[in-house]
Amino acid sequence: MDLGLDGKVALVTGSGRGIGADTARAFAQEGCRVVVSDIDPDTAAATAGRLVADGHEAVAIPCDVTDEASAAHLIEAAESAFGAVDILVNNAGYLKDGYLAKMPLAAWESVIDIILKGTFLCSRAVLPGMMARKNGRIVNISSRSIFGNPGQANYSAAKAGLIGFTRALSQEAGRFGITVNAVAPGFIMTEGIQSLPHFERLREAAIAKNPVGFLGEPRDVSDTVLFLASERARYISGTTVFVTGGRYSS
Ligand SMILES: NC(=O)c1ccc[n+]([C@@H]2O[C@H](COP(=O)([O-])OP(=O)(O)OC[C@H]3O[C@@H](n4cnc5c(N)ncnc54)[C@H](O)[C@@H]3O)[C@@H](O)[C@H]2O)c1
Repeated sequence: MDLGLDGKVALVTGSGRGIGADTARAFAQEGCRVVVSDIDPDTAAATAGRLVADGHEAVAIPCDVTDEASAAHLIEAAESAFGAVDILVNNAGYLKDGYLAKMPLAAWESVIDIILKGTFLCSRAVLPGMMARKNGRIVNISSRSIFGNPGQANYSAAKAGLIGFTRALSQEAGRFGITVNAVAPGFIMTEGIQSLPHFERLREAAIAKNPVGFLGEPRDVSDTVLFLASERARYISGTTVFVTGGRYSS
């Protein structure tokens, strides 16, 4: 199936590593010009450098998505590098787990900020260009944890909020030729997950609970993101695709 992505400009936040880096590579392999963005300038440069070394068109633009000026600069710099941003993937996100009764305010605020404020700031900055061109794709990375994971009240709330954001923005943006969708992954094997101290225990438990009996890889997420960002998905907006192997509960 031709996804019709050749020549499009795709920007992925938090793409220095993990699902974001894999998504950036997947877009590049479809012929997109790719903006690799991360709060960590070194990983962003390394990921973009690997794409360029493999013959793809990519630039690294560091950005802290929670900072208004940094998010505005990201979109300006991407538009000046490639002329437009056709696809925005709001992927930057992290966990600060802990039971709510003892959760520090900082753990609540930082998780809400990176997931909701970051998505708001990057989407708001990219919209004028997409609206002027009457074409655009926004894909937000949510999570299976919207159904509620113990120790993740902050993360579950933020990722569920992202689904409301996705639905509301899809209503506003549709008449400008812009679709807005979310992808909600379950347990995906990334560097971040594999570096957790209790990773082996988590992995065993996750496999046991998963209907398909194995855990997802970043490519399972990036393939779904690519489809939603493609011309093939022009009639899909405001929805959430679960990439969980059939597991929904905690
Ligand atoms: N891995 C999973 O199992 C899983 C499951 C469900 C959802 N997700 C979501 O997928 C996304 C990617 O997850 P991952 O596992 O690849 O994570 P990861 O930790 O491997 O990568 C996240 C990237 O975001 C960057 N980042 C952190 N703060 C930032 C900021 N303020 N501005 C810009 N970039 C910032 C980090 O430097 C890192 O490169 C996240 O939104 C995560 O919540 C992951």
